[in-house]
Amino acid sequence: MTHWVKRAAATLFGEYELYHILRSPELDRLPSPDTHSPAFDISELHEPDECAASESGELRTLSTQFGSESIVLGARDHGRLVGGAVVWYGDRYANERGFWPLQADEAKLVNIVVEQKLRGQGIATLLIAAVERAAMFRGFQRVYARVWHSHSSSVRAFQKAAWCKSAFVVVCRPFGLAGPFRFQIARTMAGIQSPNDSHPINCRR
Ligand SMILES: CC(C)(COP(=O)(O)OP(=O)(O)OC[C@H]1O[C@@H](n2cnc3c(N)ncnc32)[C@H](O)[C@@H]1OP(=O)(O)O)[C@@H](O)C(=O)NCCC(=O)NCCS
Repeated sequence: MTHWVKRAAATLFGEYELYHILRSPELDRLPSPDTHSPAFDISELHEPDECAASESGELRTLSTQFGSESIVLGARDHGRLVGGAVVWYGDRYANERGFWPLQADEAKLVNIVVEQKLRGQGIATLLIAAVERAAMFRGFQRVYARVWHSHSSSVRAFQKAAWCKSAFVVVCRPFGLAGPFRFQIARTMAGIQSPNDSHPINCRR
């Protein structure tokens, strides 16, 4: 059934993309900036070489995302890089991605990755908290992230960090038209919870 629904949608709407837009709490209202973890060392990275030398292909992609108007955080396990997160803002984000409109005091988390064998231990959640702290220190009020609609582990990591679903975005090229066309469903109320969410989304405003 799901297969036929997907085929019908693809025929009508062409190739389509479905994303959750998640947003951080207001950063100047964070109760505590502490992201200390006894298990993993989270800190800002300034040199791409450490990422470029990683055995993980996903972590190596971080090395290309350093540079102007970026913040890169790394997670280390006994000194070894096991995860990272990248934030872009200003012209860097507008020119290279520009998917989500940002105000001057907003930034966008453009990548978060954890080495495969260490997933499920809360490293992404720690990185997200560190992203908030680093963005707050630079004067940002809010950080956004775009997550593929069915990427449950990623959505879950953001929810554990108290981010909330801010919008759902559909990008499609219906009936073979040139497009792409974009539809956005805003979620503006605090505490909206979808039936599949195991925890309420706690929107701190
Ligand atoms: C997404 C990613 C960064 C999460 O990293 P992580 O360190 O495993 O995340 P956390 O451990 O902080 O949280 C993951 C949560 O999702 C849960 N989870 C894992 N797989 C899941 C699934 N298929 N369905 C639902 N929840 C899932 C975990 O159990 C955990 O929740 P819990 O602590 O309540 O049990 C990691 O999976 C990754 O690097 N993926 C590849 C790169 C990527 O897709 N990045 C995201 C781009 S938006």
